[in-house]
Amino acid sequence: MIIFFIFILLCQFPYGTAQLTPMKIAVVSGYGSLEPEMQQQLQNSLKWFQSSFLVEKSKNPVEIQDIYLRIPEYQKFSIVLVQTPIHRQNLNFQDLKKLLEIADFTVFVVGQDPKRCQRDQDLLAEALPIVLVPDERPPLAMMSICLQNNPRHQNPSLDSRFFYDLFRHEILHGLGYGLIIDKSSITHKPSEKYIWNHSNGLGQPENRHFLDFDTFALEFTKNHFSCQKMKGVEADGERKNHLNEYIFRNELMTTHLEATGNIFSWISVGIIERTFNGPNQWYHINRTFIAPEADQYTFGKNFGCDFLQKSCHDFIKITEKRSPTLKIAPFCSKNHNQMCYKLPDSQKLYKMSDKDCEMRRVIGDGIDKGGQQRRCPMIKHLPAKFNFVNCPPPPGG
Ligand SMILES: *[C@@H]1O[C@H](CO)[C@@H](O)[C@H](O)[C@H]1NC(C)=O
Ligand SMILES: *[C@@H]1O[C@H](CO)[C@@H](O)[C@H](O)[C@H]1NC(C)=O
Ligand SMILES: [Zn+2]
Repeated sequence: MIIFFIFILLCQFPYGTAQLTPMKIAVVSGYGSLEPEMQQQLQNSLKWFQSSFLVEKSKNPVEIQDIYLRIPEYQKFSIVLVQTPIHRQNLNFQDLKKLLEIADFTVFVVGQDPKRCQRDQDLLAEALPIVLVPDERPPLAMMSICLQNNPRHQNPSLDSRFFYDLFRHEILHGLGYGLIIDKSSITHKPSEKYIWNHSNGLGQPENRHFLDFDTFALEFTKNHFSCQKMKGVEADGERKNHLNEYIFRNELMTTHLEATGNIFSWISVGIIERTFNGPNQWYHINRTFIAPEADQYTFGKNFGCDFLQKSCHDFIKITEKRSPTLKIAPFCSKNHNQMCYKLPDSQKLYKMSDKDCEMRRVIGDGIDKGGQQRRCPMIKHLPAKFNFVNCPPPPGG
């Protein structure tokens, strides 16, 4: 009965053909449910995956034995919680066989390592893809969650959308984003050295690293930043697991999630679609479904090569000289003099002044190696979504 139910839940599409169909996805946990709101956002993220990812049915179904072998801690569970995009259900472990036959991708929640979670308080969750057949898409992933680092404990008013982004981010890693290596090395780009000039004029040697699998993403990224000589999509560091936080900011696949929400952009669409080894593309993204979100990604639009290749201080100086009308918020700039901003749904104007500028730490490659912290002049209190407008002339004159 229960099996039949899950079969109905997941089996909305024919399978066994080489057609692309929405990716049937499930999360299995031997550790019971998360806090209700977190579990709900996990479910919402699964709905999102099933709507945005199209895959071919694998010819090699996962067996219970594969789980025992690759995720040994599951040998100890007799009952597990199964979360699908539309349903939640306890199952006997042996009954997972049917689920594994139907699902295209199954994430197993594994126990967290309390010491690791404690060492790195920013660590919220981690996921790893499990490839069973070389050059084929991973049918499984492991995901651990540092419940003790739940940012809600620090910030009780944090919007639960944060967990939605967290699970989307982690499950994207589970599918291979930033974690599958390009075995052919076709898309590999060598790292390069450059100098980050601080505000006091001192130059700091740095390294720039690029993500693998940028063939599809690079064209869009060049146009987004208006930099045709862009060499690659800058990564978080040597590990190349993420988009660079400084450059891509509120993109979903940077190292840090924003409390105000993150966007799965066309850049990540390109990266995950090119993430495959062997001759066949593993993932196809439904562009119709993803466009309303991806089109909202505007950070760094038209900032140019100076933003990508120089420090924020050089970028601001050069832009003020060469492109005095270019708006480069959230960075402070003379270019914003006489500018006001308003919130999208409001007519109220907010004026910016020099006092509304502060030096803020930004996250670049340097922190990995204990390098000097990078600080950039940023506009204080700037909301996540705003529009620049000319300030009205002062009254009376
Ligand atoms: C893609 O998404 C759109 C909008 O949600 C939907 O109408 C369409 O059926 C989807 N296409 C496929 C192939 O699933
Ligand atoms: C750093 O500053 C020096 C001196 O002002 C300048 O010549 C150099 O081009 C700057 N480096 C970069 C990467 O812009
Ligand atoms: Zn990550």
